[in-house]
Amino acid sequence: MNVAVQNFKGAEPLPYTPEIARATRDLYTKVAHVIPEIEWPVFAPYVDAINKLKKQRNAVILGHNYMTPEIFNCVSDFTGDSLQLAREAARTDAQVIVQAGVHFMAETSKILSPSKTVLIPDVKAGCSLAASITGADVRLLRQKYPGLPVVTYVNTSADVKAESDVCCTSSNAVAVVEEIAREFGVDTVIMVPDKYLAQNVAKQTKIKVITYDGACEVHERFTPQDIRDFRAANPGVVVLTHPECPPDVVAEADFSGSTSAMIGYVGNHHPQKVVLVTECSMSDNVAVEFPDVEFVRPCNLCPYMKRITLPKILHSLQTMTTEVLVDPAIATRAKAAVDRMLAVKIPVQKAA
Ligand code: 13P
Ligand code: SF4
Repeated sequence: MNVAVQNFKGAEPLPYTPEIARATRDLYTKVAHVIPEIEWPVFAPYVDAINKLKKQRNAVILGHNYMTPEIFNCVSDFTGDSLQLAREAARTDAQVIVQAGVHFMAETSKILSPSKTVLIPDVKAGCSLAASITGADVRLLRQKYPGLPVVTYVNTSADVKAESDVCCTSSNAVAVVEEIAREFGVDTVIMVPDKYLAQNVAKQTKIKVITYDGACEVHERFTPQDIRDFRAANPGVVVLTHPECPPDVVAEADFSGSTSAMIGYVGNHHPQKVVLVTECSMSDNVAVEFPDVEFVRPCNLCPYMKRITLPKILHSLQTMTTEVLVDPAIATRAKAAVDRMLAVKIPVQKAA
């Protein structure tokens, strides 16, 4: 039984009628490769109800690449990595944004679209990186390193973003670091909170990077030995890692990039066999798009991303909860850091 079905425990089962079977047939055809037929009657009534209700509410669902396949493929209006979802949040015309992702992503959407109603289907969908640092920690770093710009990963609270000069995601971090160093006329930046992302960025630029002691609890668990074991067990496998992995893990990979950069790599290179060293749902979602590629599936689950389920998305739209609010004074300062990031152009060879 897959993770999404297990997460339905306790949720009200909705009837699977012949009308729903007909209405969702095309969607099932799309995901048949990764969702067993026996599980579809559990998902389909929710998919149908969510897709009807989101139209009535003038809502869009922004689905991160780590969502389970029935959320990613069957109810999300836009999918992508953190940077792509932030861009969508900034330009959507919909009045309501349902964030099928974690809390910091919903806050970023609210910061970028303050007049919209932003909903998170489970407020406990946090992030170990966001929990590792506060605004006060950033102020202390500024005292310790006066004059140096602070580059903050988007995986942080609005409070932390508000204390920062610029934000970054894993798809633009090198370009952001180089641009902010140029603007400040310095050769060193402070980068918080992910020490591994910061160390991986430092290897790709001449700018010196002062790091902080945060880590993603999903990616820090991978080891270089894991990569060697995947290769030994699967001769010829292509290994793609996320830059939240420790540098000695990234060093063993064929390519490292954001979740969307990994998808781009699979699309451009069509490897016969690939392992995505990241969160578990990624392989299912990429396999829907590239059914001919074989995915080796060792992975780690993000317990926060997996809190988002179809029943919770439906409940969120029915009750218009839980609304994510950001203090306007904090939001204004956080928006300046996010907007500065969105203005940075990513050189073509460094994009996905
Ligand atoms: P990206 O999708 O931006 O690569 O981020 C990965 C992640 O861990 C988000 O929480
Ligand atoms: Fe946070 Fe890591 Fe989960 Fe992303 S995968 S939400 S960085 S804990």
